[in-house]
Amino acid sequence: MIDLRSDTVTKPTDAMRDAMARADVGDDVYGDDPTVQALEARTAEILGKEAAVYMPTGTMTNQVALRTHTEAGDEILVESGAHIFVNEGGAPAGLSGILVRPIQGEHGIFTAEQLEQSLRVLHPFNPSTIPAPTKLICLENTHNSGGGTVWPLASIREIAALARTHRIPLHLDGARLWHASAASGVPEADYAKEFDTVSVCFSKGLGAPIGSVLAGASEPIARARRFKQMFGGGFRQAGVVAAAALYALENHRADLSNDHKRAATLATGLSTLPGVELDATRVETNIIRFRLNDRSSFDLVERCHAKGVHMLPAGRHAARAVVHRDIDDEAIQTTLSVVKHVLATENKENRV
Ligand SMILES: Cc1ncc(COP(=O)(O)O)c(C=O)c1O
Repeated sequence: MIDLRSDTVTKPTDAMRDAMARADVGDDVYGDDPTVQALEARTAEILGKEAAVYMPTGTMTNQVALRTHTEAGDEILVESGAHIFVNEGGAPAGLSGILVRPIQGEHGIFTAEQLEQSLRVLHPFNPSTIPAPTKLICLENTHNSGGGTVWPLASIREIAALARTHRIPLHLDGARLWHASAASGVPEADYAKEFDTVSVCFSKGLGAPIGSVLAGASEPIARARRFKQMFGGGFRQAGVVAAAALYALENHRADLSNDHKRAATLATGLSTLPGVELDATRVETNIIRFRLNDRSSFDLVERCHAKGVHMLPAGRHAARAVVHRDIDDEAIQTTLSVVKHVLATENKENRV
């Protein structure tokens, strides 16, 4: 099966498994795990932050960040397709009791002007107690549902300047910040510098089986440790999996541009197929989202699956394919012939 559902499906390599088997471990809840500490220190160093805390998932690092920056009844601003908003099980409301106000971006990116329009400016006649206070702004880089879009550094800087003026902290969902850096050549630390907290994942394109880190200044990260524990993230001898993340950081980061090249080849090929609507020039990293003119995406993904290519529907008329380190050049070519074949085969029942 050529599995293009997500880059989370990557499996640990033998070398990574060796590193896991040899990991020096301790009880992380007591602060005793040297491998977790090494991972936190190395990630903080790469991101240019004072401190970092390791957790099992990107959802947890994001949601702990939200809880760290807010109190129940506060409001946060996000892009309308943000993972934090649409793909984390309603956690902002469920775990932190906060409101999420979306800003509609383009391919997942909003501008500083749009943010400015969204920030409430109250006249003294308007009691400040009436609206929910805006306590956090979240960006996502790369933007998953936007199609793996890289948020331009210049735009981030404008947004950060505006946030600072309004004294609102900024959080980055950088699950794929590594991809943004590989695609743009901007070091991760240059992006991270503009944010109060940054969440990064090891379990996606980097190929580790589990784990994310939340990084920032010492104070918010100390507070985040409390909520990590509260949300059930104290995971004892976590060094076994932290070793995989460390291995991935040091050995797999440089490979991401191969995934991007393969994604570009796949996108270019798909864009030439009749019935596919896709601007291949917009595919900047490893995520490809394409629309189907007059056909059900459910039908397409099911019939491709039957022929050994696993993709996800992204709505009724769109599909998603994510390239990752377990996908080679041959898999890209096979995928293109399978999709071409399936699209060329009429299935009237499923035309919409
Ligand atoms: C942009 C983004 N943020 C956060 C997450 C959540 O990561 P996890 O699956 O580790 O909870 C994902 C997962 O795919 C993601 O794409």
